[in-house]
Amino acid sequence: MRALTRLTTLKTSAIAVAMAGALGTGQASAGEVEVLHWWTSGGEAEAVGTLRDLLEAEGHEWKDFAVAGGGGDSAMTVLKSRAMSGNPPAAAQIKGPEIQEWGELGLLGNLDPVAEAGDWDALLPEVVADIMRHEGHYVAVPVNVHRINWLWANPEVLADAGVEVPTTWDELFAAGEALREAGYVPLAHGGQPWQDATTFETVVLSLGGSDFYRRAFVELDQEALESDTMIEALTTFKRLRGLMDEGMPGRDWNLATSMVIEGEAAMQIMGDWAKGEFTAAGLEAGEDYLCAPVPGTADAFAFNIDSFAMFRLTEQAAREAQYSMARLVLEPEFQHAFNRVKGSIPARPDLDMDEFDACAQRSMADFRQAEDEGGLVPSMAHRMAMGSDVQGAFYDIVTNYFNSSDMSADQAAERLAQAASLAL
Ligand code: GAL
Repeated sequence: MRALTRLTTLKTSAIAVAMAGALGTGQASAGEVEVLHWWTSGGEAEAVGTLRDLLEAEGHEWKDFAVAGGGGDSAMTVLKSRAMSGNPPAAAQIKGPEIQEWGELGLLGNLDPVAEAGDWDALLPEVVADIMRHEGHYVAVPVNVHRINWLWANPEVLADAGVEVPTTWDELFAAGEALREAGYVPLAHGGQPWQDATTFETVVLSLGGSDFYRRAFVELDQEALESDTMIEALTTFKRLRGLMDEGMPGRDWNLATSMVIEGEAAMQIMGDWAKGEFTAAGLEAGEDYLCAPVPGTADAFAFNIDSFAMFRLTEQAAREAQYSMARLVLEPEFQHAFNRVKGSIPARPDLDMDEFDACAQRSMADFRQAEDEGGLVPSMAHRMAMGSDVQGAFYDIVTNYFNSSDMSADQAAERLAQAASLAL
């Protein structure tokens, strides 16, 4: 292990020197990178530790700026206040269209020298590269690709109740009854707006398909948002409450995953950072836990790409540290180490997936197939599909509808359409 670390250090510092030369900055000097992120669960913290270690091995200093809260709402609020006081961190976990919002404020730095040296244009799928550029310049670096439409299951619990992993909603509701009778919570869930939205978008994807999903959540098409399909999706989504437990309000997502790990609950609908928790608990994919696409979404892939946007810096050592971080993130070593722990697949598609578990291998195969066949859609719940204003409004409507007994599915659909129309 120590030899491996030494090797890593040697290799990375050699590259650092080469890069510094390539960038015309002379000898690399040590600097500090303050990194804002919301990776605080067991699996997440371990994953982000791989980046800190690689950066420190190059002599730079990692200043951790972790703001707890799955989905990143709290982190984004804190980031805004730091930026408003003129003191943003060097790097922040910012995703999807919000990268453009920050770019328009003129606060992001230009990563083109790192991107050119690493040939990011050739390395990254266009759908990924496009999100990382603002006005043609790289301002962010992608870390991974998460898939949202996953169903996680405890095979022992399913077997005890005599049910299989469901592939349709009817099967899921029928399995739910059997699981309840056998004394289990059928579906573990945390009642927080982003988790509600995560579940909801998978139902929309399932019942409407990829084209419908895009019309509703990317194009914000009024007709799609108010359609019978959307009303049906809202109705099915609300029916899922019947499979959840009373303890769900406010529960963190990783505690819901623990319920599946502990055998208290049978299943959870969640992006594959949940796999990070199974992995951290020492469990093996395909044996100790199962992954399957959410019913009716086998051909689709709702993607959630984590990325670090880099703020503009003036001090040379700090900028070099920031550039080192951007370069390291796309190197094979980090992509392998981080994504195996995090539960995602690499952001670059050229890496060997042999050392990844069965769920990650399936995720990569499904990503490629969905990319070829039009099944790739950006996650609404994870800030990939729309601007932050509409997304915030959608969160509120979905959560209020899910938790109130007096809002009908028709009314919720109407409100979604109204919220979208304000942004158009
Ligand atoms: C997502 C993020 C994931 C994961 C999750 C829960 O928004 O993209 O990496 O961390 O939140 O915290």
